[in-house]
Amino acid sequence: MSLIDGLPDGSGVRLLAPAKVNLTLHVTGQRDDGYHLLDSLVVFADHGDLLHVALSEVDAISVTGPRAAGVPMDTRNLCLKAARLAGQSVRVALEKHLPNEAGLGGGSSDAAAVLRAIARLTSAPVLASAERIGADVPVCIPSRAMRMRGLGDVLSEVPALPPLPAVLVNPGIPVATPPVFKALQKRDNPAMPEVPQNLKTVAEVAAWLTLQRNDLQAPAISIAPEIAGVLAQLASAESCLLARMSGSGASCFGLFASTEQSDRAAMIISKANPTWWVQSVVLK
Ligand code: C5P
Repeated sequence: MSLIDGLPDGSGVRLLAPAKVNLTLHVTGQRDDGYHLLDSLVVFADHGDLLHVALSEVDAISVTGPRAAGVPMDTRNLCLKAARLAGQSVRVALEKHLPNEAGLGGGSSDAAAVLRAIARLTSAPVLASAERIGADVPVCIPSRAMRMRGLGDVLSEVPALPPLPAVLVNPGIPVATPPVFKALQKRDNPAMPEVPQNLKTVAEVAAWLTLQRNDLQAPAISIAPEIAGVLAQLASAESCLLARMSGSGASCFGLFASTEQSDRAAMIISKANPTWWVQSVVLK
């Protein structure tokens, strides 16, 4: 069981559903059914949604927190979808801190947390076919640094990375994933090389990442040009080592050598853009 999950609480369990960040996202092909082949280095933040999950006779969900608005409460809710696929009714209290449709895997991370909770509370193995809920759900089950390939369902371990101080920024424009894939100009891009064994500092990680890509960044900017402004503000922040979009956007991340630097950049960007969601985090 993951260290991000708390002790059993009453009849249920408390969990953190951390933000997912794609440090790289290479689109390497497309299958006949339209789905794309991905190659992505995925890490997780020390910030996310909070859930309390208990076994129940009937499904029930409550959503509170600063980002509760817009979370579907019906069968489209990924927490309930996860429970249904796992064959277990649950009562979920979701405290939403991550923006929706933001490239941070919020819904996927919530669904993965529900699957972890069900596995823990029933002593059953975690649902194997989690990709049926969403491409990001399998990697969100362990919620630690992984290389993600295939449709998102082929996971492999990566060499240890140093903790990465970062600023996450979402400009408040929901960006749906399918149109971003549709806007891709080229689908058979080169795969990501092996992650090097000896990346010891944030600067070394950033230097290696600079040679890699998020192939969805340009198509996402063509749909939501505000993303270019987010990237420009991150890149021009003092001491920013790399600025890139996560997932299919619109959220972007900037990497910094220290949490003092990321805290300071987050404060400045937040002050200049009061409507943006800005968070200083550590990625692992
Ligand atoms: O699985 P998820 O709900 O995140 O996918 C959203 C959409 O993104 C899919 O309906 C599909 O259009 C696109 N997608 C894709 N190839 C993937 C993952 C997602 O084309 N590997």
